[in-house]
Amino acid sequence: MEGTRGMGLKYVDSQCSLSELDDFDLSRLLDKPRPYLERQRSFDETSLSELSIGLKSLNRGSTDNFETIYSPRGRYGLDTPTSSARNSFEPHPMVGEAWEALRRTIVFFRDQPVGTIAALDNSEEALNYDQVFVRDFVPSALAFLMNGEPDIVKNFLLKTLCLQGWEKRIDRFKLGEGVMPASFKVLHDATRKTDTLVADFGESAIGRVAPVDSGFWWIILLRAYTKSTGDLSLSETPDCQRGMRLILTLCLSEGFDTFPTLLCADGCCMIDRRMGIYGYPIEIQALFFMALRCALSMLKPDNEGKECIEKIVERLQALSFHMRNYFWLDFQQLNKIYRYKTEEYSHTAVNKFNVIPDSIPDWVFDFMPTDGGYFIGNVSPARMDFRWFALGNCIAILSSLATPEQSMAIMDLIESRWEELVGEMPLKVCYPAIENHEWLIVTGCDPKNTRWSYHNGGSWPVLLWLLTAACIKTGRPQIARRAIDLAENRLLKDSWPEYYDGTTGRFIGKQARKFQTWSIAGYLVAKMMLEDPSHLGMISLEEDKQMKPVIKRSASWTC
Ligand code: GLC
Repeated sequence: MEGTRGMGLKYVDSQCSLSELDDFDLSRLLDKPRPYLERQRSFDETSLSELSIGLKSLNRGSTDNFETIYSPRGRYGLDTPTSSARNSFEPHPMVGEAWEALRRTIVFFRDQPVGTIAALDNSEEALNYDQVFVRDFVPSALAFLMNGEPDIVKNFLLKTLCLQGWEKRIDRFKLGEGVMPASFKVLHDATRKTDTLVADFGESAIGRVAPVDSGFWWIILLRAYTKSTGDLSLSETPDCQRGMRLILTLCLSEGFDTFPTLLCADGCCMIDRRMGIYGYPIEIQALFFMALRCALSMLKPDNEGKECIEKIVERLQALSFHMRNYFWLDFQQLNKIYRYKTEEYSHTAVNKFNVIPDSIPDWVFDFMPTDGGYFIGNVSPARMDFRWFALGNCIAILSSLATPEQSMAIMDLIESRWEELVGEMPLKVCYPAIENHEWLIVTGCDPKNTRWSYHNGGSWPVLLWLLTAACIKTGRPQIARRAIDLAENRLLKDSWPEYYDGTTGRFIGKQARKFQTWSIAGYLVAKMMLEDPSHLGMISLEEDKQMKPVIKRSASWTC
């Protein structure tokens, strides 16, 4: 088990264990975890210029109060650490507004901040937008971590861990132990002066889908917290160790699978309605890969953890091979598929999934630039979903599921298809929209997901933080800057909509909430990362050398 040893069993009980595992090339750039109170500007001007960030020259001697810039009337602002904003950098006026709006969304449980609600739009029916969604809280959490306010994140991680322990039933069916909630709500009883929690594991959600992404985000956030604060004591608790194992047990158990990817129901992630993403959606596979890597850096190789670690290591190798080979599409690969023969039998088959070339949609031939590529939406027998999905591709870059070459190609594609993917508002959740008969069949006539609206080719400002992180990781911050400029033209003026509609994202979404929290937090995270790229380490993992080189296809069939 050479590979097994080399890949991840490096856990040592020290402050450095996290960074040892995942800091490779970025070690030059990023700091090892350290207590947030010590977070000083450790990222020097050389690295900034390397990244061609083009900020105004930084004046470290400046005594500008960071808090007045970033934490207006903040309730935790008092212990705000020194930060990159202690310089002559002039923040955009939107930044202060965004912090104020974000702080208004904080939810308290017994006087402790435990999360942020999804939207504070009083003009619309609340539905479940008054709940704390696990996935929606991620950008809020990152903003708080970057601003040196980890308590709310720690409380959130512990609260959701408690919820995982609940017995979960839908009708008479008991859900897996590891399932994390999609969202939770705090009920305040003013007379009895008590707070209680209610959680939704999919049993109340529209469509009754369990959120496969919640558990993955929980693990990713636990690592971000640990990395940002240097506080290993949370991830090392038996409860957190168990929480991670339970989440991953749901995905690593043996079954009838012939692929290392995770089989999913439609709508089990950010796209939480029927949108034809059932099967092996990229949105989940990329998060799965990232969560596996994050867990590997935090799990203790003790009696209970060892088996899980071994399974993770094996799965990571198989998953990266599968994704990098079968989900990857560029001009050459498209041409290959176009010329595929069908009905090939046995392990010598080139067209392994028996994809019929006639099923390639016309738009892909125009969309695919000569340079550039992306991970397609889904691969299963005789079915390739060629749609481009933003989250999956950005997470593939951040988790290093994409090789460095593939990461560059994804960025090349975003640049050359700027009009289509970014247009007037970053960023399309997927491209292109499905229309007409296909929309009817695929969405089940969903009036919310009509073409170029909402999940069906709508533009979601929250995705700005993921795009920015991917840009910084690939050394192309100028792309993020362009995207942020676009967002700054509209977001505040339009009261932070949840999404925009239209082929270029020009219109505020048909049923978009205003003051959507993750649109606000996503903007703040993008701004803070661009200003201080060392924040990237919280949500980025460098390539694991053990997963290189990419094994040739035929090798997977030898024993
Ligand atoms: C919508 C989105 C989902 C989000 C939720 C709360 O259902 O599709 O991704 O988590 O709203 O904002």
